[in-house]
Amino acid sequence: MKIIEAEHYQDMSEKAARFIIEKVNGLSAPVLGLATGGTPLGTYKCLREDHLSHKTAYQHVYTVNLDEYVGLAPYDENSYTFYMKKHLFHHIGIPSSHTYLPNGMAADLTAECERYEALIERLGGVDLQLLGLGLNGHIGFNEPGTPFSSKTHVVELTESTRKANARYFDSLSSVPTKAVTMGISTIMKSKQILLLVSGANKAGILARLLSEEPHEGTPASVLNMHENVVIIADRDALSAVKERSMIF
Ligand code: PGA
Repeated sequence: MKIIEAEHYQDMSEKAARFIIEKVNGLSAPVLGLATGGTPLGTYKCLREDHLSHKTAYQHVYTVNLDEYVGLAPYDENSYTFYMKKHLFHHIGIPSSHTYLPNGMAADLTAECERYEALIERLGGVDLQLLGLGLNGHIGFNEPGTPFSSKTHVVELTESTRKANARYFDSLSSVPTKAVTMGISTIMKSKQILLLVSGANKAGILARLLSEEPHEGTPASVLNMHENVVIIADRDALSAVKERSMIF
């Protein structure tokens, strides 16, 4: 595990974008695993700006997102499909046929989870998976207690996750109660993982993830078992980490 300290959110975002652009330029058909939420917004902005100024090409890139709400149509402003189009896909010239998210409107959600898992395999697996870190240690929508062996599955969202995401909706009651998420074993199969963490409110959970043995009570602690993880975290997020020798 390599930990890179950024000065602040913008610096973290720029460093993450450079990391992704290197993958995009370095591989003939990179498969990027993408995340939503507040943390990657700055990274996506940097990617949009880079595409405008440096013409980084995305025609050869494929993307698979971590998760999608159940019951929100792709044109719903709160769906992750909408988020990805708005913040990234519409701006970088990536073919829409190369961008995948789970279908939260599928009539048969079990079949949809199997289809998504098979799709990732057919693409040859994820080369670089971008992750944010939930306040309770979740990755994707894998809440505490999710088995490390889990594949893409339907989750019942916890009250704390629904409350954290309610800021994007009119009211808490409009936040979906379920989502389809890549499982922990799906995430762990990625060849490389880039975890982004920003802000003092994430300091406690980041310190825990770095000091704990992997256990299912803290889903992100599984990352200690992956051989190619890079964490880019800002100073505030790293403020509770005691073992400074691991930080670059
Ligand atoms: P955030 O969410 O990026 O909005 O903080 C991270 C997560 O819940 O995975």
